[in-house]
Amino acid sequence: MRGYRAKMVEPTRLVPPEERERALSEAGYNVFNLPSDRVFVDLLTDSGTGTMSSEQWAALLLGDEAYAGASSFDHLREAVEETMGFSRIVPAHQGRGAENVLYGSLVAEGDTVLNNAHFDTTRAHIAANGADPVDCPTEEAGDFDSEHPFKGNFDVDAARDVADDVGPENIPAVVVTITNNSTAGQPVSVANLRETRAFADEIDATFVIDACRFAENAAFVQQREPEFEGESVAAIAREELSYADAVVMSGKKDGLTNIGGFVAVRDTPDLDALYDACRQRGILYEGFTSYGGMAGRDLEAFAVGLREAVTDHYVTARVEQVRELGEALDDAGVPIYWPPGGHAVYLDANALLPHIESSEFPGQALVCALYEEGGVRGVELGSFAFPDTDRPDLVRLALPRRTYSAEDIRHVVDTAAAVADRADELTGYRVVSEPSVPELRHFSARLEPL
Ligand code: F0G
Repeated sequence: MRGYRAKMVEPTRLVPPEERERALSEAGYNVFNLPSDRVFVDLLTDSGTGTMSSEQWAALLLGDEAYAGASSFDHLREAVEETMGFSRIVPAHQGRGAENVLYGSLVAEGDTVLNNAHFDTTRAHIAANGADPVDCPTEEAGDFDSEHPFKGNFDVDAARDVADDVGPENIPAVVVTITNNSTAGQPVSVANLRETRAFADEIDATFVIDACRFAENAAFVQQREPEFEGESVAAIAREELSYADAVVMSGKKDGLTNIGGFVAVRDTPDLDALYDACRQRGILYEGFTSYGGMAGRDLEAFAVGLREAVTDHYVTARVEQVRELGEALDDAGVPIYWPPGGHAVYLDANALLPHIESSEFPGQALVCALYEEGGVRGVELGSFAFPDTDRPDLVRLALPRRTYSAEDIRHVVDTAAAVADRADELTGYRVVSEPSVPELRHFSARLEPL
């Protein structure tokens, strides 16, 4: 049940096959280069692409655009306190701005940072500060068929081994990303957050939660962790975050906004120095402490969005829509990472295209075929996006929040099923030009079919 109706619409159009073919060729077979008006159903990302509510649009008009002391900042701070339990925040223009503020204050050359799985920008910010980002995913994460309810969990035993290896004094931060975007959007249990918190205490590290999708994670906890059956998503969301010393947030996900983010730091004396360092760094890179790169109106929409995100009404329908897409793809015989995540379904391109070697980018072949077949834009997260790693060739179909209808979802399933039917005809790709930074290759490289 969707639980909302549209009162503002944006037309979409499926351009004819020859136009799609031309657009893809002109884009160098890289869907990041496609103009959005050539895309029919855009599942590139769930970040900043959702639909705001009428309450959020109304709140925009109340934005206080004062440079300092804006009431809109107080409104956001109050909403964070209510929904997340943190009274001190440093605003930022989006999640990676918040990462720069936090990790630039917390991490130094030669350190190691542990995470259930680092998202790309998180990894890059930690590496940019001279530290080593190490993933500690739970073992079940690698099993695409396991029904384990919390495949996003942090593996404390693996983390303890790393700590023994590098020395706990060299680990300033332990991070848990909820839900775990780099592990197919899988959730983390509250029991695992408690256990990880205890481990962080044991090694005297700051415990950080990347809370981009904290409401979706809470919806899974409500459904799958017996202790929380019958509890509201809002209460579970606060419980999840109650274990953290600091939170890093992108409003473009569970803030239900098009832009925005912040760092939150627990209000205890032992974290005063971290909060102060974040404030100063925030002023330098993001803007003054009461706006941090957001307009006053963005702060207002963000405050309303956070409160909406933790309602059962909104978030239950949200994770249900993603699950429906996953189940329908599975029924249609398209191989996917199971179970579906909170924000996206991940297709298994290695299983669908076994005749294409990883070096010839089966994931990118699938992304291109989905676009050619039905104007559907997904994103490759495999050997093309992560050169020189042994990541599986996954294609992510991320659903923007409150945006697409059941007919759009049906179209995506029919498109993927049609591609699966002619999977053996698909060929691999080769890179013809790429940028100087290998980690950012998939954003701007050009390719050609083999
Ligand atoms: N952390 C996680 C877990 C994310 O998924 C993202 C962004 C960020 C931090 C950075 O936030 O985009 O506001 O700067 N994820 C988007 C995605 C881009 O498509 O998954 P940002």
